[in-house]
Amino acid sequence: MLSFRIVVLPGDGIGPEVVAEAVRVLQTVSELSSDFELKLESHQFGGCAIDSTGEPLPSSTLKACQEADAILMGSIGGPKWGVNAKVRPEPGLLTLRKTLGLYANIRPANLASDSLLEYSPLRPEIAKGVDMIVVRELIGGVYFGTRKEQGVAPDEEVAWDTMIYSVQEVQRITRVAAQIALAADPPLDIHSVDKANVLASSRLWRKVVTETLKNEFPQLKLDHQLVDSAAMFIVCNPQKLNGVILTENLFGDILSDQSSVIPGSLGLLPSASLAGAPSVPSADFKPTSGIYEPIHGSAPDIAGQGIANPIGTILSAAMLLRYSLGLEKPAKAIENAVRKVLDLPEAGGLGLRTADLGGKVGTKELGDRIVDILKTLL
Ligand code: NAD
Ligand code: IPM
Ligand code: MN
Repeated sequence: MLSFRIVVLPGDGIGPEVVAEAVRVLQTVSELSSDFELKLESHQFGGCAIDSTGEPLPSSTLKACQEADAILMGSIGGPKWGVNAKVRPEPGLLTLRKTLGLYANIRPANLASDSLLEYSPLRPEIAKGVDMIVVRELIGGVYFGTRKEQGVAPDEEVAWDTMIYSVQEVQRITRVAAQIALAADPPLDIHSVDKANVLASSRLWRKVVTETLKNEFPQLKLDHQLVDSAAMFIVCNPQKLNGVILTENLFGDILSDQSSVIPGSLGLLPSASLAGAPSVPSADFKPTSGIYEPIHGSAPDIAGQGIANPIGTILSAAMLLRYSLGLEKPAKAIENAVRKVLDLPEAGGLGLRTADLGGKVGTKELGDRIVDILKTLL
């Protein structure tokens, strides 16, 4: 029997609450399969790790992540380790991504169920049919350029960060976006987002994206958007950006949160961070590790109340099964179970809603219902 090692990093705030439900989902998948087993082990990461060890990414956690078949993460950070703290959780996440070489962050934004249209901040006729995948470069750009904090001397008045990209970094993320676009039938359009009217790194970005696609993927349609107008289109005409939004680290961070609320709530959407293009289950499936996490943060404002929406994390577990383990059937079953709890009764679903979607169902109860349905689908 195949055995997979999955490292679980619950993290801070609502992280442990939402991860607990995704873990139950994975345990259900494992228990009901006779072909494979999932061995889950939790490790300290983030603010909780700072409290117990003094650092956000203890070496034992990093080692476990390096040896794992895949990593399921909740979220890290919070006011206790805020921007003025000496040691903060966020640099631990950046180090983990960089050390594992996870340069491709894939963040789909689409409606898990049409019944959620009424929760979109956009009018239903604008939100309906939105289907975007943000492909965000994750280990370059201003996040990783040299920076200088403001010094402590009274006359120190500057701090700076450098946005830097190499040709090779842009080429490899462009290839990931192209492979994702090509995996769809018909292939998806690619919208590359930059700020080439101002930034030198964006002019390099635009040139390399254009050349890479022209030389290696001439069948794909490409357009370029400036990030300010892309942000505007995501709100007033998001369907213009349907397909793949290919962008650098900081722009992708911002645009992925923005696009994620179109389907109703930040709590609904999953993400994968990989060291290459996702390999979908097939005869020549190539396993690759990666971090799977909801795109939201630790939500300190609702932590500890048992009301967080666990769906983004549960759907991240489905991505983990598909992309790192090559297990399409249970991945699809999880996605169908989620759709069923969200769909309205007249569409054959349960119509359950957590507080972020105007409902009263708690984190654990939603997890219970998803597990119940999943058992009937596996
Ligand atoms: P956030 O994503 O934590 O929360 C933004 C808003 O969305 C809040 O009102 C929150 O209640 C709501 N929300 C988020 N997830 C939800 C869910 N599952 N169910 C219901 N409501 C949900 O963003 P923030 O408040 O700006 O950041 C808080 C902390 O999280 C910061 O320390 C930040 O650095 C960190 N963060 C971590 C990650 C990560 O671990 N990958 C990602 C983003 C932010
Ligand atoms: C995300 C988060 C992280 C980022 C933070 C917590 C470092 O916002 O995963 O989107 O900016 O990449
Ligand atoms: Mn973010």
